Amino acid sequence: MSFNSDEVNYLVYRYLQESGFTHSAYTFGIESHIVSSNINGSLVPPAALLNIIQKGLQYTEAEISIGEDGSERIIESLSLIDAVMPDIIQQRQQMMNVQNNNGNVNNLVNSNQKSSIQQHADLKSSVKNDVEMTPVTTPSTTVPSVTTNAITTQQSSAPTVIATNASSTCNSTPITTTTGSSGQTSTLSTTLNQNSSGLSASTTAIDDLDGIEIPASRATILKGHESEVFICAWNPTSDYLASGSGDSTARIWNLNIDNVSPEQLVLRHCIQKGGTEVPSNKDVTSLDWNSDGTLLATGSYDGFARIWTTSGRLASTLGQHKGPIFALKWNKKGNYILSAGVDKTTIIWDASTGQCTQQFAYHSAPALDVDWQTNTSFASCSTDQCIHVCKLGSEKPVKTFMGHTNEVNAIKWDPSGQFLASCSDDMTLKIWSMAKDECLHDLKAHQKEIYTIKWSPAGGPMNLVLASASFDSSVRLWDIERGKPIHTLTEHQEPVYSVAFSPDGKYLASGSFDKCVHIWSTYTGHLIHSYKGTGGIFEVCWNSRGDKVGASASDGSVFVLDLRRR
Ligand SMILES: *[C@@H]1O[C@H](CO)[C@@H](O)[C@H](O)[C@H]1NC(C)=O
Ligand SMILES: *[C@@H]1O[C@H](CO)[C@@H](O)[C@H](O)[C@H]1NC(C)=O
Ligand SMILES: *[C@@H]1O[C@H](CO)[C@@H](O)[C@H](O)[C@H]1NC(C)=O
Ligand SMILES: *[C@@H]1O[C@H](CO)[C@@H](O)[C@H](O)[C@H]1NC(C)=O
Repeated sequence: MSFNSDEVNYLVYRYLQESGFTHSAYTFGIESHIVSSNINGSLVPPAALLNIIQKGLQYTEAEISIGEDGSERIIESLSLIDAVMPDIIQQRQQMMNVQNNNGNVNNLVNSNQKSSIQQHADLKSSVKNDVEMTPVTTPSTTVPSVTTNAITTQQSSAPTVIATNASSTCNSTPITTTTGSSGQTSTLSTTLNQNSSGLSASTTAIDDLDGIEIPASRATILKGHESEVFICAWNPTSDYLASGSGDSTARIWNLNIDNVSPEQLVLRHCIQKGGTEVPSNKDVTSLDWNSDGTLLATGSYDGFARIWTTSGRLASTLGQHKGPIFALKWNKKGNYILSAGVDKTTIIWDASTGQCTQQFAYHSAPALDVDWQTNTSFASCSTDQCIHVCKLGSEKPVKTFMGHTNEVNAIKWDPSGQFLASCSDDMTLKIWSMAKDECLHDLKAHQKEIYTIKWSPAGGPMNLVLASASFDSSVRLWDIERGKPIHTLTEHQEPVYSVAFSPDGKYLASGSFDKCVHIWSTYTGHLIHSYKGTGGIFEVCWNSRGDKVGASASDGSVFVLDLRRR
């Protein structure tokens, strides 16, 4: 990180100008030689100074809430002046520590209602700044690279944030409601084990829709979340869609029964506060079903992972992380859960007891993603730019992959567990194997950060194909066997946050902040279908039959596109 006084002066000048202090701006401009600073003002967005101050403030708050030993993560928001006073910061940190020791957070409320993917990204980027931060007064002759972390730049395009209902109660029993007025009352559990919808057939049948645009009659809008919905995931054996939101709930939506309003189970994420359970008011940002579809695991910014039954009962709470959880996955066997935290560690949990089986503390910065290679070994990536492969029972990483030059956002093993793909803010995609220290392929084509990647399903016609989603608004398909690009999919207008292959590998769904879900042919790279929702799309996913696509959005909506032949 570097900046010089000309740049600071320029931002102050613009601030004065924009705030109507015309004379001061003029005088200041003369005194600080703004004209000779070589900054092209037409490229600097409005409110730049305030935006950067806001980020600094968020960073300072994050610093307090993620103290070294801070098992507590709820902090009162800071005033700007408090944030610049070292004494007050120190005092806050000590307060956090005391409260941690008491296991008590009575006086602290989370008045920062910014909970959103933006916060997620802000946290990621503030943490990133933490890693990169060096004393900043060195003048530089080169123009500093503008932070292009596109999630944070969403600030200007302001996703609709729905106020979290902090007063909602913390029932220990899940609440079942229907979204419509229909009197449908059957509970999820009664229909869970019916495979009446014939899940074995796995052919996508979407070619009978007229035209590209998916009609509203094919979309079911699921309303209930009170804040952004970061994530959604279909149950692997039945048409239950789980969603996780900034309203500190996960929900399970029942889409097994046609022509009735889907009912929802509300899974409230609560914490102990003064002896009672209160909503954690923290984002639920990761979700994963076990492979037989009987349990749902969630990861939250409140630092806890939780396991829920399909009837919405909280089966266990996994508490060992100190700070937000960024990723969580079941192994195939279903006996372990793996999680990655801002506390720089990854943890293997025993799913039956809820106990931490092993904690891995090899990263020097927050762990952003994890993926199982086998039932007992996994890879993790971090803002520290490294990837570690670790094994249960082993005291050291069995492999470390280095080569990325910026934070590594996501990693995925191919279905056989032979190749590991990684994507990074350094705009590259790399492929690794256990047999080699250097990457097998270093794929450069994206113009901005790559947010996520997915492998095509095993056994499909598109074998060893990887899809990458980037903040440059494009999706790319890659032939990993040859290390060559196949298609570039360019219809999106904004950063792409999610991609998902249909189970047969013939189609790829993508979701972008432009509110569109696009469905592409993986063979031709052509856009087949498209649907525009009401909020920026954070996640898209296919059901196991490959005939419905679920999506979750920044405006609190979740929707399901029904692609079945009629
Ligand atoms: C400043 O940037 C704008 C937009 O890119 C460009 O049109 C203009 O020529 C630039 N001005 C200078 C002085 O470089
Ligand atoms: C918040 O929740 C309470 C209790 O469930 C309810 O009475 C109130 O109407 C809700 N407010 C909003 C804005 O949803
Ligand atoms: C579930 O699927 C299996 C295999 O397709 C089938 O034999 C069985 O009858 C189905 N059960 C129900 C309740 O439909
Ligand atoms: C993991 O365990 C499951 C169930 O026991 C088994 O089917 C699968 O082959 C195992 N995976 C690996 C990679 O060993």
